[in-house]
Amino acid sequence: MANPQELLASRVQDGLAVAFGEAYRDTDPLIRPSQHADFQANVALSLAKRLGQPPREVAAQLAAALAVADVCLAPEVSGPGFINLTLRDDWIAAQADAMRADERLGTDAAADPQTVVVEYSSPNIAKEMHVGHLRTTIVGDAIARVLDFAGHHVIRDNHVGDWGTPFGMLIEHLLDVGEGSPAAATLRTDPNTFYQAARTKFDSDPVFADRSRQRVVLLQGGDPDTLRLWQELIELFKDYLHRIYGTLRVTLTDDDIRGESFYNTMLPQVVTDLEAAGLAVLDEGALCVFPSGFTGRDGSPLPVIVRKSDGGYNYSTSDLATIRYRVDDLDVDRAIYVVGSAQALHFRMVFAVARLAGWIPDGTSFEHAQIGNVLGTDGKILRTRSGDSIKLSALLREGVDRARGILNELEASSQFDEATLASIAEAVGIGAVKYADLSTARDSEYVFDWDRMISFKGNTGPYLQYAAARIRSIFRRAGLDPDDIAGPIVIEEKAERDLALKLLGFGPAVWAVADSTEPHRLCTYLFELASQFTAFYEMCPVLKAELDTSRESRLALCALTLRTLVSGLGLLGVPVPERM
Ligand code: ARG
Repeated sequence: MANPQELLASRVQDGLAVAFGEAYRDTDPLIRPSQHADFQANVALSLAKRLGQPPREVAAQLAAALAVADVCLAPEVSGPGFINLTLRDDWIAAQADAMRADERLGTDAAADPQTVVVEYSSPNIAKEMHVGHLRTTIVGDAIARVLDFAGHHVIRDNHVGDWGTPFGMLIEHLLDVGEGSPAAATLRTDPNTFYQAARTKFDSDPVFADRSRQRVVLLQGGDPDTLRLWQELIELFKDYLHRIYGTLRVTLTDDDIRGESFYNTMLPQVVTDLEAAGLAVLDEGALCVFPSGFTGRDGSPLPVIVRKSDGGYNYSTSDLATIRYRVDDLDVDRAIYVVGSAQALHFRMVFAVARLAGWIPDGTSFEHAQIGNVLGTDGKILRTRSGDSIKLSALLREGVDRARGILNELEASSQFDEATLASIAEAVGIGAVKYADLSTARDSEYVFDWDRMISFKGNTGPYLQYAAARIRSIFRRAGLDPDDIAGPIVIEEKAERDLALKLLGFGPAVWAVADSTEPHRLCTYLFELASQFTAFYEMCPVLKAELDTSRESRLALCALTLRTLVSGLGLLGVPVPERM
């Protein structure tokens, strides 16, 4: 199955070579969607000067040299020198049939698979995840799924914050409440309460604060008993993560956790090597690297601090060690950091230091996939009324409750038993929250608005879930299995043509996400597909089609649309209920 735009590009390049000589083959043919045809090639306009001929004449020569009769109607020169290209209906139908026959729905598999680490979620252990982590988790998971599907070797990496000073007070608090006590178990369900209790004691009780500080020294010194207690805290928190990831249908497992502590033993070497390379200098007792091009407001160079004046290492040191590990041990071609935009400068600077030190080879890509803030309807970072950051678990529960409320009002719900309704509400509530996150460009902020995200209209999760469920119901009514439709697809109506052509856009949409790490592109595609399907379904009777061949073709279009919607939502990690 061919991507129309790519196929036309290569055909026009052949035409350029025939009309003007081999030297012209590599010119960008500038294939763009067109208002008057499916596509237009704009290359004649850009070539006219080089060839010293009027653009329309260049276009006419090129059009005459094109060998596209198997794909397009006769190319037409229009306007100042565009070449209009209209795909043949039988070509579109044959491509759609090829897509039906392909397990990958016509999506090319990476010709040259890369090893890609996708780092996402990365909460701080013992603190409840907040809405900010929701987005990095959901978007990161979609990116990982898409890269997997595109045929790359994906390493999921949950870079949890599991080391550092807070663990002194957390361990002391664990000892105070007692290992195995109910208070310790709250880490599994409500980690914030545990954290807050430790924090409050730390701030008000100097003896506790002192113990906590000594405990950090023991932890960093590798004291076995302290390490055991630290491990226990982590295990309890993992239970919390399991539940949240399970609810969110996020594919991260324990094996993907490689937190800050993992890099601990590598930190001294980072510093030694930077010093040996003459890149690190002492500045007011702290060891710093000053990568060029980074200055503060007053124009003074900004440091990356790799060892604090008290001798401790910090966040940047840990990230430098992480980069080295990913390059040297994981052998990555590409590293994608799905982290909030607030850390943009941090990443630009540590990537710059790592390049200076020669730790990132040329051709290896380190990318910060920036995640924008989630805002409340007041335009400020989403918080509860009392000003606390909103807990993820409470938020997800509310989504499911609201979905249930909406479903209860639908007449169709009366056919479902209680268990079915509950599972539909779960899929709709979680799907709505996830889709709202995914469908907004990941680096823009967006306003968290229940009414908009849970609506059955517009570019929302429920709309797409419903579109899939509605197609399933067509097959159910006819007593047919969508996988058993023989076809072939025959295009007679414009609505059939539009739908089939839109279907061919699936592979390109998947690849756009793989390359750009922007899942919203796939959302936009799926929304357009579902809208195109609605138009088709209004125009073209399926089960009541006049001819058997039309009915079979339309059923094939329905089945292919269903598979495409389900696969696309699957790549986004949005659940699709069987019925709604
Ligand atoms: N744990 C950090 C936070 O919650 C995010 C970690 C980002 N990743 C990294 N390699 N620094 O803010």
